[in-house]
Amino acid sequence: MHDETFESSCQVAADLVGNVERVIVGKHDAVVRAVKALLARGHILVEDVPGVGKTVLAKAIATSIQADFKRVQFTADLLPSDVTGVSIYDQHENIFRFRPGPLFAHVLLGDEINRATPRTQSSLLEAMEEEQATVDGVAHPLQRPFFVIATQNPIELEGTYPLPFAQMDRFIIRLRLGYLSAGEEALMAKSRLHGSPLSALTPVIDCAELIATQDAVCGVRISDDLIDYVVRLVQATRVEDGIEYGASPRGTLDLVRYSQATALLDGRSYVLPDDIKESATAVLSHRLVIRRGTRRATLNSDDVLHELIERTEVPL
Ligand SMILES: Nc1ncnc2c1ncn2[C@@H]1O[C@H](COP(=O)(O)OP(=O)(O)OP(=O)(O)O)[C@@H](O)[C@H]1O
Ligand SMILES: [Mg+2]
Repeated sequence: MHDETFESSCQVAADLVGNVERVIVGKHDAVVRAVKALLARGHILVEDVPGVGKTVLAKAIATSIQADFKRVQFTADLLPSDVTGVSIYDQHENIFRFRPGPLFAHVLLGDEINRATPRTQSSLLEAMEEEQATVDGVAHPLQRPFFVIATQNPIELEGTYPLPFAQMDRFIIRLRLGYLSAGEEALMAKSRLHGSPLSALTPVIDCAELIATQDAVCGVRISDDLIDYVVRLVQATRVEDGIEYGASPRGTLDLVRYSQATALLDGRSYVLPDDIKESATAVLSHRLVIRRGTRRATLNSDDVLHELIERTEVPL
């Protein structure tokens, strides 16, 4: 790739982080991870309590890339067609017309996805994978870019359908925003005295430029040795003592792409082993099921992964 084009892609990535941080206070790592996921063409699962900035994060990203934004509140009575859209009969013209649902946005915030039935959840999750939605037998391509931020509230789980393990794999990362420190929370409150900074936020790029930046991520070089390293890490999760189920081949692909995004955000056109090390926990931890009834039961998947990464030989 031409150097100048690559440099401008790196600049775009850094500007996106900076722009979102005009609105989100004190969550640098989470914002960086969200931007990497966006650049890697992935989707994010945010597991967090209410009021920690999930909606603001999604809106800030949408504004930053001049994308159209939709939000769906998942509830028990939400139907798949409420997500995908419906075909409506046009009496005058004697044909069915497709009325697209919120799925046909660039940035879609799926709030409390665990409150809807598995069938409705699938209408979103399948579209994420296939980049299209089939309604009444007709396939409709989604918009590009297409970026989903789905949320699950880890409390009040009664009567909900927490995403099954198999569906976690559809998300490139799981993100937690979490509470702010006292100092940061005060800073946030002060920035809010004269209205929300979100309303003053302006775009950094448009959707076409985002796609170009995503393409630049795909062009970040990764050597065969480093691909082998990714594969060894992922395969190690499948034979690890303390892990019941390890990561899938989709996990491998996501780890490669996310590591490329990590390199780009660091201004490099090639992946280093550290990009992979740093990305592995973010990309793999939500895809593991920890085996109960062993010493490992007290460890969480991040701990198990850290150990595994330390033990896995790094290519020179
Ligand atoms: N880290 C943060 N930086 C800036 N603003 C924040 C942060 N955390 C929370 N807020 C502010 O708190 C308010 C609530 O945030 P938001 O609506 O995004 O929460 P949420 O996580 O979507 O909550 P819910 O689960 O109820 O939908 C907003 O005004 C938001 O700006
Ligand atoms: Mg919200």
